[in-house]
Amino acid sequence: SAQQAVTEHAEIGVIGGSGFYSFLENVTEVEVPTPYGSPSDSLFFGEIAGRRVAFLPRHGRSHHLPPHRINYRANLWALRSVGVRQVLAPCAVGGLRPEYGPGTLLVPDQLVDRTKSRADTYYDGEPLPEGAVPNVVHVSLADPYCPSGRSAALAAARGREWEPVDGGTLVVIEGPRFGTRAESRWHAAMGWSVVGMTGHPEAALARELELCYTSMTLVTDLDAGAEAGEGVSHEEVLKVFAANVDRLRGVLFDAVAGLRANEDRDCLCTKALEGLETGIELP
Ligand code: ADE
Repeated sequence: SAQQAVTEHAEIGVIGGSGFYSFLENVTEVEVPTPYGSPSDSLFFGEIAGRRVAFLPRHGRSHHLPPHRINYRANLWALRSVGVRQVLAPCAVGGLRPEYGPGTLLVPDQLVDRTKSRADTYYDGEPLPEGAVPNVVHVSLADPYCPSGRSAALAAARGREWEPVDGGTLVVIEGPRFGTRAESRWHAAMGWSVVGMTGHPEAALARELELCYTSMTLVTDLDAGAEAGEGVSHEEVLKVFAANVDRLRGVLFDAVAGLRANEDRDCLCTKALEGLETGIELP
């Protein structure tokens, strides 16, 4: 493939969610091609507390990509290819319990995938490019999120007096429609905490690339089963996200500053491919 040399470098990636289209000041914008096609947008390079950060708006800067059309493989690949090894991933979610109302910040520790149409692996059997090693790998996703990244996110929220919910299960639906009341009540009855549309395959792909990945969910609404009103609207989601985006940006700044140096990572995320032959070369 005609991959041009990208000279910008970053150690930490931030993937902005609905209502979160810009993050850093004094950014350098770079288009980063990948073997999987184009990411959702350019990467925007900047600095926080002396750390090089690459920001990527998940839905594109003008929100033209619905969750099922996002090229998640290109997004994570592009981040890794510029040096990123730790990713902070805010996203808008619906709360599945009445106590998780709009404005709740929940840092999940578990994930349930209820999507159905997404390219969600790099290890797709076909060698890429031509190679002798079959491209078949099964990574563990038992604990989908980086424990160290989670700690940094939680500490950052507490430091800004935004008491976060520590742990919980994010269920990811295919969308783009919101859930029915029955689906919502079912998800709640299973004990799941929040519902979103983008957490899968992001976390799984990050693990496949040995990236530390931390989801930070911002509740924008009570999902249909947990509220008595008319159901969720996209307008409501964007409004609540916008109302919280400044403090979320603050928490992300502090979380970035609180992450370890990439060389000091010792979590299992860094060993996902240990002893395995992948058939593809990671960037
Ligand atoms: N994103 C924000 N609110 C949501 C909801 N209720 N269901 C799925 N994704 C969401």
